[in-house]
Amino acid sequence: MELYAAIKARRSVRQYKPDMVPREVISRILEMATWAPSGLNWQQWEFMVLSGPKKDELARSYGRIVEFSMPPEGKRTPQQEGFLQWARTLGGAPVAIVALTQAHGQPGIRKMNLESVAAAFTHLLLAATNEGLGTCWMTGPLNNEAELRKILDIPAGKEIVAITPLGYPAESPEAAPRKSLDEIVTWIGFDD
Ligand SMILES: Cc1cc2nc3c(=O)[nH]c(=O)nc-3n(C[C@H](O)[C@H](O)[C@H](O)COP(=O)(O)O)c2cc1C
Repeated sequence: MELYAAIKARRSVRQYKPDMVPREVISRILEMATWAPSGLNWQQWEFMVLSGPKKDELARSYGRIVEFSMPPEGKRTPQQEGFLQWARTLGGAPVAIVALTQAHGQPGIRKMNLESVAAAFTHLLLAATNEGLGTCWMTGPLNNEAELRKILDIPAGKEIVAITPLGYPAESPEAAPRKSLDEIVTWIGFDD
């Protein structure tokens, strides 16, 4: 897929087919992630690829977080119920990918590490789009990071950056509207 087309085709997908993604396809996507720029070329990214019970535990943990912020059962809107269902199951995705970096006490280095992994994660999402796969960048599950760290047995020296389900989309979401460049760009030193 042409790059601009892939950028525009990517969506946050929250419903997946159960079909497993072949391991070589996942490896190809992860390899594309490693072509991202990184601060000092430290390539400070690591990935956990989950399927099976650990992925399901991660989803249930996210489900509890989402449920916590919602009205009790019976008082939820259909949209809220739908979102809760997505969270509890990751929309039925067969795979989840967790991106990690080295934890760092110095704010400047921590920022550099996080930004490097965010760049790699963007590559990952676009490569997945190119393979006909769906993803959804998630930081919501980090709202109970302690539980997540326990589930995934993540040591103190590592920081979780983001998580995405990975699988073949079972929905084709509309594009979320974008802000116009007029709202967000300040041109300096250019003629009008
Ligand atoms: C840093 C970040 C965190 C996000 N966390 C979540 C999340 O926890 N759960 C979720 O369902 N979507 C999450 N999203 C997806 C956004 O809701 C989505 O990107 C946005 O609504 C735009 O839609 P699009 O990705 O289809 O263009 C996150 C996206 C980003 C970039």
